[in-house]
Amino acid sequence: MNKDCISLQGINKFYGSGQARQQVLFDVSLDIPCGELLSIVGTSGSGKSTLLNIIGGLDRNYEGTVLIQNANYANMDDAQLARLRNENIGFIFQAFNLLDHLTCWENVCLPALFDRRHQSALREHATEVLDRVGLSGKTDARPSNLSGGQKQRIAIARALFNHPTIMLCDEPTGNLDSDTGRQIIQLFRDLNEHDGITLILVTHENRLSQVAHRIVQIEDGRIASEQINTHPIRLESSGHIDGTDEVDQEHADPEKNAPNAAAPITGDRSGHQEAEPGSKT
Ligand SMILES: Nc1ncnc2c1ncn2[C@@H]1O[C@H](COP(=O)(O)OP(=O)(O)OP(=O)(O)O)[C@@H](O)[C@H]1O
Ligand SMILES: [Mg+2]
Repeated sequence: MNKDCISLQGINKFYGSGQARQQVLFDVSLDIPCGELLSIVGTSGSGKSTLLNIIGGLDRNYEGTVLIQNANYANMDDAQLARLRNENIGFIFQAFNLLDHLTCWENVCLPALFDRRHQSALREHATEVLDRVGLSGKTDARPSNLSGGQKQRIAIARALFNHPTIMLCDEPTGNLDSDTGRQIIQLFRDLNEHDGITLILVTHENRLSQVAHRIVQIEDGRIASEQINTHPIRLESSGHIDGTDEVDQEHADPEKNAPNAAAPITGDRSGHQEAEPGSKT
């Protein structure tokens, strides 16, 4: 059995104070084993980003317990939490948050700006991760000259720079056309499958959520349902990653892309570790 990578226990979250105090997360408990690809879906305002920010240690103002690889956020000071985040967690957001006056490789290196390594070593590693996301040849380009999908790949390369064990992705395809979005989601699936990165993907799009091993639905700040997905779909056939932002649907494996492959489970939130074909230990 996989050990848990992330464990949320009884999370409550409030915004505001006094009469304006509003509860937005209600007793959320969730165990995410190492190597899982988990989708979180839910309507706008249901609490997805709030939950992701708590998981990522960006928001410390909550009730309940967050354990990341058995480390309790509550026992860490700000510097320890920042180090854990920097070394273990990659964030990807809907807005790419790139700096246009820097080159692609410099954007990728941002997390290492305070690192003492020599520039050439930084550039070399940045080039490696740019290759990994299908952007070889774009090392010295400026983000403003790239497509939306390519910009999101730079943001992914930046998140990969420090070899995270966890990636938290908040609507990463929200600014992309649907074909490009599918390619980006497939890239996440490959990073989960081949690199063993535990990945949480927040998405509005039902079809994209089907790449996950498990799909959790949030409604009004509560976990409303969970599905084990016995056949996570592939969104392109080759499994190889390129930067062309084209989706090869023609050769897709029809079995793996079978619609309605998700098997609903009810009432048993503990059985999720049994049906994860792509999970790592
Ligand atoms: N900084 C804040 N101050 C006060 N209320 C907030 C704040 N951030 C979010 N909220 C409220 O918390 C609730 C959950 O917001 P959250 O951003 O987590 O939703 P979401 O599911 O990510 O929505 P979306 O799909 O639109 O991104 C909403 O009612 C929102 O208005
Ligand atoms: Mg959100």
